Amino acid sequence: MKILSVVGARPQFVKLAAVADAAAQRDDVQHVIVHTGQHYDAAMSDVFFADLRIPAPDVNLGAGSGSHGRQTGAMLSAMDEVLEEQQPDWVLVYGDTNSTLAGTLAAVKMHVRVAHLEAGLRSFNRRMPEEHNRVLTDHAADLLLAPTEVAREHLEGEGLGSRTLVVGDVMTDVCLRVTASVADQPLHLPTGIDPAGDFAVATIHRADNTDDPERLAAVLGALRASPLPIALLAHPRLVAKAREAGLALGGGSVHVGDPLAYADLVAAVSRARAVVTDSGGLQKEAYLLGTPCATVRTETEWVETLEDGWNQLVPDPAGLARALERPRPTAERPDHYGDGHAAERVVDALRERTR
Ligand code: UD1
Repeated sequence: MKILSVVGARPQFVKLAAVADAAAQRDDVQHVIVHTGQHYDAAMSDVFFADLRIPAPDVNLGAGSGSHGRQTGAMLSAMDEVLEEQQPDWVLVYGDTNSTLAGTLAAVKMHVRVAHLEAGLRSFNRRMPEEHNRVLTDHAADLLLAPTEVAREHLEGEGLGSRTLVVGDVMTDVCLRVTASVADQPLHLPTGIDPAGDFAVATIHRADNTDDPERLAAVLGALRASPLPIALLAHPRLVAKAREAGLALGGGSVHVGDPLAYADLVAAVSRARAVVTDSGGLQKEAYLLGTPCATVRTETEWVETLEDGWNQLVPDPAGLARALERPRPTAERPDHYGDGHAAERVVDALRERTR
């Protein structure tokens, strides 16, 4: 059986690490990796392949940045040739990015079966480009690999129950594996943060927070006024949009650094007092690692993290200080996200359904 994975953005490389590992353990599985080129900076891409020991991509579409239509279209038109040449049994797409949608559309139009990993997540926020990518991908795909029961319920509600299989969350596979290896690792934090003291790890990159200068100024102002020192791991979108708006990233409580490699991020989050983010993956990693999270959004797809206050939504940045000062929850964290073996289930589900 031949699986062709389409990836392009940072969180997809983490998920790919788990799938590539599981595929390598099966003698009858050939795994081809297509990188769309959506993320191209070394810190956003190469470092993940190297550190998570992911085989180098077989194909790079070199799509790069651009408006949504241009970026998605560049990937879509480059995919036809790859699919003609590779003739996979399955195209496997991951999450909710423009790379996910492009991989899906290219495959279904060529009658290649598509499996969507992380199917069924919903924010119900139609302003998010990711929400359109998720819904369109789920409705086009042949097999919906859902991470949680809540995701399955969403898919059933949309009439997609018969194509759905709950496998668990592959990011959890990687997070659990990496956590064990970073316990005593020195932290790579921005200059000015004392690794032995209290600090919060922050990432901001969603269009809703970065693209309106007034909103961005409010988010950055709240970080600067934080009661905890903030290690701001600046995503390229944040850097670019702050520069365009003439806003400084640092100052006050904020110490700015580059994005971290995955193991360094896990080490930093597990020793942080708190996390501030608008990333989906980081909310879940904070939960798995037992670090309270403040999510600078009006909703989350990972609703299980909100139970018992491990994660808290902070739609108005003015509420950030209070969210960071809340007592650390004491409740148990049930394993909503699986047992660390989701990727094996993914590969087996594809094998069982290959004619
Ligand atoms: C994308 C995904 C989002 C995911 C995120 C993870 C979409 C619609 N969004 O958002 O779901 O959570 O990736 O990071 O697909 N840039 C660089 N270097 C890079 C990559 C990007 O400088 O390596 C710059 C681009 O020039 C652009 C900005 O960052 O200005 C945004 O990149 P883009 O790929 O459009 O979306 P993300 O915000 O990263």
